[in-house]
Amino acid sequence: MRNSPDLSVQLAPRHPEGLILSNPVMISSGIAGYGEEYAEITDIQKLGAIVCKGTALKPREGNPQPRLVETAGGLLNSIGWENIGVDALIKEKAPVWARWSVPVIVNVAGETIDDYVAVANKLEGVTGISGIELNISCPNVSSGGMEFGVDPQLAARVTLEVKAATTLPVIVKLSPNVADIKEIALAVEGAGADAISLINTLKGMAIDINKSKPCLGNIVGGLSGPAIKPVALYMVFEAAKVVRIPLIGCGGIACAEDALEFIMAGATAVQIGTACLTTPDICLTILNGIELFLREKGIGSITDIVGAARYKS
Ligand SMILES: Cc1cc2nc3c(=O)[nH]c(=O)nc-3n(C[C@H](O)[C@H](O)[C@H](O)COP(=O)(O)O)c2cc1C
Repeated sequence: MRNSPDLSVQLAPRHPEGLILSNPVMISSGIAGYGEEYAEITDIQKLGAIVCKGTALKPREGNPQPRLVETAGGLLNSIGWENIGVDALIKEKAPVWARWSVPVIVNVAGETIDDYVAVANKLEGVTGISGIELNISCPNVSSGGMEFGVDPQLAARVTLEVKAATTLPVIVKLSPNVADIKEIALAVEGAGADAISLINTLKGMAIDINKSKPCLGNIVGGLSGPAIKPVALYMVFEAAKVVRIPLIGCGGIACAEDALEFIMAGATAVQIGTACLTTPDICLTILNGIELFLREKGIGSITDIVGAARYKS
């Protein structure tokens, strides 16, 4: 029997304290709320990290129903910003997280740069929070609703200002709804991001032909699940060509083989989203599958295969 492979990964090598995860499997934002209910159905302490629901300065109810529609190989959601607000998160959730060994990363949403900065300021020094993930797929009110994540300058500004407001590691989560993901990745790296997660959902819609109207109350939603995996994988592969900071691959991952593809494309870690909704313990199955793969191939560390597919054609 071979020795156990080293599954630990460093997500923030240029941060003074770093952000080391015991393994590369994370649960993505919006899937397990704030983690407590999820903790009752799976052993979340075994995961690399948990990313909580997108949290804003004030509580919000989110978009009108219906907010979920199944599509071929995917899921359309228009949950919007339903969240308890950062003050309640600090009061009610962080004390629970402080008792957990699994690191919790807070996904932050905002409509202005000041919103993001205000949330980051409030999270400063709060026990139980290991990092911030900036959701820059949010519409920016001061630029007429254009997403922060589609403009390299806006993406860089929000990253720079949040980095200046926090001592926590900052992961910037990229939107796939852009012409060139490399441009945005480079911009946020240049602005000081510690890591990049990608991708958020792809914009999409569905129509109910019997009612002749859009299925989602919000008309447009975000597509996730297996349907987006090849797109997400390509974007990780592309971003890995230009940035040096760690990438966290996300989009349609549903088994260990999928996760390994992302790692070989250049991701240091992976986030699992939609697959957890149908198979709650999928993250642990994926983790076990990654470990088995490394063992069978005699690979000593997960980091040995990060980007492995980039050097072959
Ligand atoms: C129901 C639902 C809610 C989501 N909420 C958020 C959110 O609050 N913040 C965020 O950055 N991403 C959010 N996402 C995007 C996921 O974190 C992930 O990036 C995306 O679904 C792609 O991964 P998947 O195909 O594994 O689901 C949400 C996705 C779903 C399906």
